[in-house]
Amino acid sequence: MAVPLLDIRAQNAALKADIMKALESVVDSGAFILGSEVEALETELAALVGARYAVGLSSGSDALLVALMALDIGPGDEVLVPTFTFFATAGAVSRLGATPVFVDSRLTDFNMDPTDLEAKISPRSKVVIPVHLFGQCAPMAEILKVAKKHHLAVVEDAAQAIGAAAPEGKACSMGEMGITSFYPTKNLGAMGDAGMLFSSDDALAAKVRHLRNHGMNPRYYHSMVGGNFRLDGMQGAVLRIKARHLSTYRDARDAHAAKYAEILAGKSGIAFAGDANAEEARLILPRALPGMTHVWNQYTVRAPGRRDALKKLLAARGIGCEIYYPLTLDRQECFKGKSLGGESCTRAHRLAEEVLSLPVYPELPQAGLEEVARALAEFAAG
Ligand SMILES: Cc1ncc(COP(=O)(O)O)c(C=O)c1O
Repeated sequence: MAVPLLDIRAQNAALKADIMKALESVVDSGAFILGSEVEALETELAALVGARYAVGLSSGSDALLVALMALDIGPGDEVLVPTFTFFATAGAVSRLGATPVFVDSRLTDFNMDPTDLEAKISPRSKVVIPVHLFGQCAPMAEILKVAKKHHLAVVEDAAQAIGAAAPEGKACSMGEMGITSFYPTKNLGAMGDAGMLFSSDDALAAKVRHLRNHGMNPRYYHSMVGGNFRLDGMQGAVLRIKARHLSTYRDARDAHAAKYAEILAGKSGIAFAGDANAEEARLILPRALPGMTHVWNQYTVRAPGRRDALKKLLAARGIGCEIYYPLTLDRQECFKGKSLGGESCTRAHRLAEEVLSLPVYPELPQAGLEEVARALAEFAAG
């Protein structure tokens, strides 16, 4: 049976009646930009992530940009970011004329390595952006400690991790600011582009609110240069409906990850990330590290030396998969000569050659999951 990587339509079909009703009410109200649906969403999601304020924004990418604008980041400043992440994390830094400094990743969870973070701090360092990649929080205890010691602001990139938690707190509540994305493939997906920034700092939250509307207040008076980073009412209405189901979606994703583990544990050639012998295995499965609430935006395995063969095998069986990400950011053409720290990110470079993300979406049928697991077991044994 064919198994897609993701089936967005299945999730939305189940909510279609509620969504159409909510959209109709936005049409009737005429509140297309910000408005009461966005305000209500901000209140509901601030409570969900445990932050005092939430500011609805046009996308996760813009949320990162506005966070750095609120911290007055610009030319001459350095911002520490993982090199193994989606482009937007470092793109925001360069868009402001600052320099991205790339930090290596850990093999156990794909996240920023705090030891390498500290090694790459310079007198120009201003901010660190830990990314909670694939739905699991970065090692925040260590990152927060390093940030405090070196007076860095922390902006959490939780684009893939709304609802995730670490022992230190929920994603988006641990740094000065945290951002998420509601891109349709995310755990809480809109029907277009949308994002949000969270903070418990009065001044930063107020500044972000100001920046999202051209730094304008009162109307047509501008005390700072912002932009149009506003969230629209239709997305707010859709997201409020879907947010009510977020914990159900997470539980389903978690159950799928547990099922993969149950079927594949002990099979020839298979190990779990962090196992003593993991690096000798043909296939390394992801796991939630102790104390972590993983929200499994992606179920990402590693197949050292044979990733492309695994991709081919899955494609031949109609199983959807994707490489997130095939090229680390330090090796992207646009950052050549305009970034620092990339050459030493050897673990991240390795990850880019080994990773493959597999179906784990909430509506994934049991038979589909078993089909994927069978293919993985055959691959690892062969
Ligand atoms: C880690 C990370 N950061 C930032 C973003 C940007 O979010 P958006 O697509 O909403 O601009 C994404 C989206 O894919 C992401 O995965």
